[in-house]
Amino acid sequence: MLTQLQTEQLKIEYLQPLEKVKGLERSLGQDIKEGLTQCQKKIPSKYFYDDHGSQLFEQICELPEYYPTRTEASILRDYAEEIAQITGICELVELGSGSSTKTRLLLDAYDQQNEVFKYMPIDVSAGILRESAIQLKQDYSSLQIQGLVGTYDQALTQLIPSSWPARMIFFLGSSVGNFSETDYENFLSKIAQVLERGDYFLLGIDLQKPKAIIEAAYNDSQGVTANFNLNMLEHLNREFQGNFDVNFFKHKAIYNEKKQQIEMYLISDKAQEITLKQLDLKVELKKDERILTEISRKFDVETTKHLLAAKKLNPVKVFTDKNNWFALILCQASQ
Ligand code: TRP
Repeated sequence: MLTQLQTEQLKIEYLQPLEKVKGLERSLGQDIKEGLTQCQKKIPSKYFYDDHGSQLFEQICELPEYYPTRTEASILRDYAEEIAQITGICELVELGSGSSTKTRLLLDAYDQQNEVFKYMPIDVSAGILRESAIQLKQDYSSLQIQGLVGTYDQALTQLIPSSWPARMIFFLGSSVGNFSETDYENFLSKIAQVLERGDYFLLGIDLQKPKAIIEAAYNDSQGVTANFNLNMLEHLNREFQGNFDVNFFKHKAIYNEKKQQIEMYLISDKAQEITLKQLDLKVELKKDERILTEISRKFDVETTKHLLAAKKLNPVKVFTDKNNWFALILCQASQ
């Protein structure tokens, strides 16, 4: 239980739906209709994250083959103090905070500066956000927490200017690799817009490396990633009265070396017809036809630094691990 004072220093707010903000009205499931009627069928990756999906994702992060989480954590362990020293006390804004496990390494470093500081975790899952915020408030006495429930887009259009000396937005886990090239560029532009001159941006990116290491990370031997991918179909069944039978689909992740991205597919075991009643949608699948559910692009440091600089997010320092598998790039807004 939190004391009265602790409760006053912990707020959770819901962001406005984007449809309202932008005046866009898109009916629920329209994105699925579009995805499943294209030549290369796709399901938008946001459907991974129902409660069960979020739990499975936490498990993925602990898998022996899934090196990104562990590697990024090791970089934070080595360099969080240096990062905190560079930025000084600031408002910490995390996009896609999840359970905030890795974030603790950063919070520890800011905590050592013995001043009150502020953390704004932003996540679509209100449940995880609330739970981890309460836990954090108990563990860090000089921390103010203001959690925001919503997507990155919602957050970046609705963040108001900070009253703190500086702000650092951070985006970990190489989640930026899950955006298409265009969405990635637009995302960086938005970050640059939201930040004021002198504010910071900390970006975690997974780096290019031999194909076998990457493919193993997304095709783990315990089949957790397979369950995570297949769970998306159960999610669609529930939400849109669908009849996907997960027994007739297989998970496969393939590294596309030309595009330097891992591609996650659900492959149809047989010719089958799927119905999503609520969307009034029938989909024919051929045997071995693939549905694309996610991409995860892999980066190189130099190209990323150039792009960041072009977006007026000037790279201040790059932190990496001993194998050069993962990097954290700290940037400062220059306008
Ligand atoms: N951001 C993570 C990544 O690209 C997301 C992820 C990890 C993921 N494993 C997955 C997404 C499996 C879909 C399926 O590495």
